[in-house]
Amino acid sequence: MDYTTFADLGKVLVIIPTYNESENLEPIVARVRAAVPAADILVADDGSPDGTGEIADKLSAADPAVQVLHRTVKEGLGAAYIAGFDWGLQRDYQVLVEMDADGSHQPEQLTRLLEALRSADLVLGSRWVPGGTVVNWPVSRKLLSKGGTTYARLAIGIPLRDATGGYRAFRRQVLETIGLADVASQGYCFQVDLAWRALRAGFRVVEVPITFVEREYGTSKMSRSIVTEALWRVTVWGVQHRLGAVRRAVRGRSAQPAETGE
Ligand code: GDD
Ligand code: MN
Repeated sequence: MDYTTFADLGKVLVIIPTYNESENLEPIVARVRAAVPAADILVADDGSPDGTGEIADKLSAADPAVQVLHRTVKEGLGAAYIAGFDWGLQRDYQVLVEMDADGSHQPEQLTRLLEALRSADLVLGSRWVPGGTVVNWPVSRKLLSKGGTTYARLAIGIPLRDATGGYRAFRRQVLETIGLADVASQGYCFQVDLAWRALRAGFRVVEVPITFVEREYGTSKMSRSIVTEALWRVTVWGVQHRLGAVRRAVRGRSAQPAETGE
């Protein structure tokens, strides 16, 4: 078998969510096609007012490996990915990849994620493992990213160095198992949510180093409300997780006499 095409993994779909990425879409699609020619691409556009959806249609018309999912309302990264996953799962894709449109996730590093997926169920591109890095981020954004993962480690005990990153490769079984329909997270904590669900379901989750390059064109959709959402959701999950652990311990204790008695 030719391992360079990743045929052993099955068909790969790279999902690229877009909102106002008119300058970035064409170059990123070209880079993905060059880096992993066997992979298909789904652009999930939320009715971008800057014409990104029309650019996606043009790229799709020129290349059957590129497909477009048009959604009418901007509902956040999480909702766009869930719609994209559903689209891919309805077809025969075995691997579904998350990738930003703005060049932050380098398509040339996708082979690294796919190679690691051969012995994993979910591969996370990580900025904060040895060999990983971020180019062109202010100290404040680095602190926010590292602080976000540290908080998730403390609150829910997630054993990851980079829990919020958005460059990932999933085997379809993961997405079929973790219950996408009840994922409510919209912004960056969507990523924490999915990784944590995969870990709790017993899937093999591994982190591989990536070089995250801050965008040159367009603007980040990061906002105060995205940070606030992540903070409150992770806090609620943390409390629920601890209550669950306490309840299991109490149940274990009261179950003992029944098991050993009579
Ligand atoms: N369809 C759709 N709808 N796409 C969206 C939306 C939305 O509401 N919001 C953002 N996107 C797209 C952007 O167009 C881009 O392709 C990608 O999602 C990432 O958005 P950015 O705005 O560039 O995110 P970022 O650079 O601030 O955040 C990155 O790092 C975070 C962790 O630090 C992303 O990789 C996040 O996933 C990650 O959590
Ligand atoms: Mn970005």
